[in-house]
Order: sequence, then C-alpha cells, then structure tokens
Amino acid sequence: MRMPLEDDGWHRIMKSVKLKIGKKKMKNIGLRSIMILRDEQGVRATDALCRHMAWPLPYGGKIKDDCVTCPLHQTRYDLNSGEVKEWSPFPLIPKYGKIVGKLRRPSPLAIHMARELDGWIEVKLNS
Ligand code: FES
Repeated sequence: MRMPLEDDGWHRIMKSVKLKIGKKKMKNIGLRSIMILRDEQGVRATDALCRHMAWPLPYGGKIKDDCVTCPLHQTRYDLNSGEVKEWSPFPLIPKYGKIVGKLRRPSPLAIHMARELDGWIEVKLNS
C-alpha cells in the first residue's frame, strides 16, 4: 500500500496494532525498503536490506541486545547507530563468510526515525 508523503517528512506506514512486540515488517517508502520492528525499546525503523549482499533483514533477521543480525552471513548491526558490529563472519569453517565478506566493504545500516501517532506507525527517513 502506498502512503502519501507528509509535509514534515513523516510517512504513515502501518497501524500500530499490526506490529506486536518482537515482530518485524518490510515496507516501502517510494523505492526504499524499510524494516519496521517493535522491541522492548519501542518501534524502530532501519533500511531493510543488509549492506553486505542485500538480504532482506525482516526475513530471518535476529533482534538481540539492541542489534540485528542478518541470517545469511550473520553481519550484525547496532540498531541505535547502524554501526557494523561484525561483518560477514558466517560460516567460520570453511572461511566462506570471511571470503564473501571481502566482496563488499563494511558499511553501516541506515537508521530512520520512527514514532507512533494516532494509532499509526510513522517513519521519517534520515537520508
Ligand atoms: S547478506 Fe547479510 S550478511 Fe551477507
């Protein structure tokens, strides 16, 4: 479902009640794929595609300790800053993860602003 661009840059993404704690969703804002998630901290928004090889993080990404870990090669990003905590470590033996990790330089995951207003989750893109 396409959402209109608000004047102040906030985009209505989905109804709040549709996102339970511990769940993630993938949504688009224009051509950009966004991951929306709810954890103990509240609602968060990041880019949806892993910076390594573009795996969609809402599909199998593990949320733990304020980080999201990609299921493909287990690159781990800080959910507050987007900083890379570990780049493509999996699998360890053979060292396939480290080899494919060299295909692309580590780069942070974009973190976006998220809020809940009038029963809606809204996102403002940071860049
Ligand atoms: S695609 Fe995410 S770690 Fe490789």
